[in-house]
Amino acid sequence: MVTFTVRAASRRYPVIIGHRHLDRLPQSLRDAGLDGTPVIITNPRVWRLGGAGLQRVLRRGGWAPVVLSVPDTEHSKSLAELGRVLTRLAALDGHGRLFIIAFGGGVVGDLAGLAAALYRRGIPYVQVPTTLLAQVDSAIGGKTAVDLPRGKNLVGAFYQPWLVFSDTAWLAGLPPRQVASGLAEVIKCGVIQDPGLFALLARERAAILAGRPAPLQAVIARAARIKARVVGADERETTGLRMILNFGHTIGHAVEAATHYSGRCTHGEAVAIGMRAATALARRLGCCTRSTEDRLNDLLDAYRLPAAARGVRPDAVMAALSHDKKVRQGRLHWVLPTRIGHVLVTPDVPSAMVQAVVHERIRP
Ligand SMILES: NC(=O)c1ccc[n+]([C@@H]2O[C@H](COP(=O)([O-])OP(=O)(O)OC[C@H]3O[C@@H](n4cnc5c(N)ncnc54)[C@H](O)[C@@H]3O)[C@@H](O)[C@H]2O)c1
Ligand SMILES: [Zn+2]
Repeated sequence: MVTFTVRAASRRYPVIIGHRHLDRLPQSLRDAGLDGTPVIITNPRVWRLGGAGLQRVLRRGGWAPVVLSVPDTEHSKSLAELGRVLTRLAALDGHGRLFIIAFGGGVVGDLAGLAAALYRRGIPYVQVPTTLLAQVDSAIGGKTAVDLPRGKNLVGAFYQPWLVFSDTAWLAGLPPRQVASGLAEVIKCGVIQDPGLFALLARERAAILAGRPAPLQAVIARAARIKARVVGADERETTGLRMILNFGHTIGHAVEAATHYSGRCTHGEAVAIGMRAATALARRLGCCTRSTEDRLNDLLDAYRLPAAARGVRPDAVMAALSHDKKVRQGRLHWVLPTRIGHVLVTPDVPSAMVQAVVHERIRP
């Protein structure tokens, strides 16, 4: 088991990562200072996989949870679903003090976190992430949000959880594509800050892809620690440090927007393509060597992450990039690797170069 603390300006809280350690959750809730009635926000798929176990452990530990299920789709991150969740929380008023347990992937976590931030101007919540992406990324850092028809995550709040409790045993039920998608964010963490993590990912590839608990937990904990450190130092993205977490996301987000978040490309796959593209830009600009670029591409290949987006129009990706630029006061921020374990952030990448790289990596 690995435990560390997120030291954000607004709150300090523990991240606990282990394998088959759910029986520790009841005491961890108490240690986090929680009391009252836990409201588990989840979806039917996650509940089928682990709900009975979670409920049993909580009851045995003296908690009396209430379960509130939302549909298993990105559309649950909507104002309508948020409204339904808040209304259902209000209906539980007779249960005394409430706190939320977000039990699921990033969708459940983002929605439940925002509901916690808003209900009665803020009630405590706990993240119990069940996807690899959520365990290394979305459950940590307090970004909560729902989507609007115009775009993703447009309505949200920075609201830190009281506790993040990850059990890598949940991940056994994830489809391989979801696992690879989460591992793209782990690879990202290696590139931006941790050459040792990058080397571990290369060395233990077979064991990690086979789902062996020890190496999987090791890389999850290392990536989660990086996320925790970065958001601890720059909770609200004011110093610019948090921006390094966006390595691979400039083009990655544009690919997702160009495919209308259809799921044709998962978030991690889009980020993998974005990391390849950003590294190609870095090499063309002379920021990194060809050997750095080759090492990253080889590792992404080894984790079966795509080399290019297929069936996506390059001009749609360019249009999404230019929309992003408009929203950001005329500047895109490119996170470019200088070597494995270090990146720089720059707005200055010639657009002809971007266009050339987009055409290499995005195939209609
Ligand atoms: N808040 C942040 O900082 C942040 C960061 C990155 C991404 N996000 C958000 O996270 C969301 C994506 O999260 P995600 O990739 O976890 O997707 P998700 O929550 O949709 O989960 C993916 C699928 O896996 C299922 N699932 C969950 N746990 C499972 C398990 N243990 N076994 C089998 N299936 C399981 C889910 O029901 C769903 O069908 C996006 O909305 C994105 O915007 C937020
Ligand atoms: Zn991401």
